[in-house]
Amino acid sequence: MWEPYRKQVEDYLSRLALPAQPEGLYAPVRYVLSMGGKRIRPVLTLAVGQGYGATASQCLPAGAALEIFHNFTLLHDDIMDRADLRRGKPTVHKRWNLNTAILSGDAMVHAAQQQLEKYPPEVFKAMQSMFNRTALELCEGQQEDMDFETMPEVRREAYLEMIRKKTGVLLGLSMAFGGLAAGAPDDDIPQLFDAGVSLGLAFQIADDLLDTFGDERFGKRIGGDIREAKKTFLFVSALEALSGKEKAEFIRRYNRTDKTADEVDAIRSLFTHLKSDRKARAAIDAYTGRFFELLEHTSLDKTTRNQLAVLAEQLAGREV
Ligand code: IPE
Ligand code: IPE
Ligand code: MG
Ligand code: MG
Ligand code: MG
Repeated sequence: MWEPYRKQVEDYLSRLALPAQPEGLYAPVRYVLSMGGKRIRPVLTLAVGQGYGATASQCLPAGAALEIFHNFTLLHDDIMDRADLRRGKPTVHKRWNLNTAILSGDAMVHAAQQQLEKYPPEVFKAMQSMFNRTALELCEGQQEDMDFETMPEVRREAYLEMIRKKTGVLLGLSMAFGGLAAGAPDDDIPQLFDAGVSLGLAFQIADDLLDTFGDERFGKRIGGDIREAKKTFLFVSALEALSGKEKAEFIRRYNRTDKTADEVDAIRSLFTHLKSDRKARAAIDAYTGRFFELLEHTSLDKTTRNQLAVLAEQLAGREV
């Protein structure tokens, strides 16, 4: 159902006029952008923008800016998370090297910004300001994510705030950009943003779940979060279910970063035993529900809201 939007995004990205030289800078950009992600951020922008009466061409530069920026975050995130695999292929720092992933990532931030220059001055200004604010929050979330690796215990509230920043706000921006590209009523923009944040929380919890319980279709190394002692939804929820000696033992085992495959499996089994996976599902459903509610605070018509609801359900129930 959102396939037509995805196709438009794919076409637009494939037509980006990236310079050929220096090859060492742009080849990794082309590599990551043609690796076929889900494109959910620009799809949200297109769905929302068109719901407010904009054409696809009015929304595509904003959507592309988000997708290019998102892919930049992945290049640097994979360095920080020591991840070798992304979308089933070697990550940029593995296929090339660290310096390449850093600089090609930097170039993508600016290539993303350039897309916004296609808008009239007032729209550009509003987009630019919201973009900068969001990007800073995303960096804060990424820093917290790294800080949490070496914190033995992290509680749910701190975890939720961390994922709101590292993932939620970019989905918020994706919705808000649809509104800004279409000239939606001013009052709708924060509502769109908040709805997107809620969807983003559901989306990150689903990502946490799949990192531990997914299969090779996920395109990333399964168990990577456990290996790196990432403080995921599964971790915080397991912590809530344990007490005393068992809790102390779990914290000790989880925070070791030299886990064997058997130790990773044992933690996965413990999550199942404590029903952390089912609790993650319930949280995903709750935040998806909140997304629907928040959409009702906007002036988007019922058809678009239903369309977005289908998209959210698909993301909530996704297997990859
Ligand atoms: C991965 O994002 C990073 C998270 C915020 C979980 P996506 O799951 O949107 O990645 P792609 O672009 O579809 O590969
Ligand atoms: C997602 O964090 C947030 C960003 C990439 C900004 P993750 O580290 O969970 O993302 P994946 O799982 O590597 O895609
Ligand atoms: Mg990360
Ligand atoms: Mg990562
Ligand atoms: Mg992840």
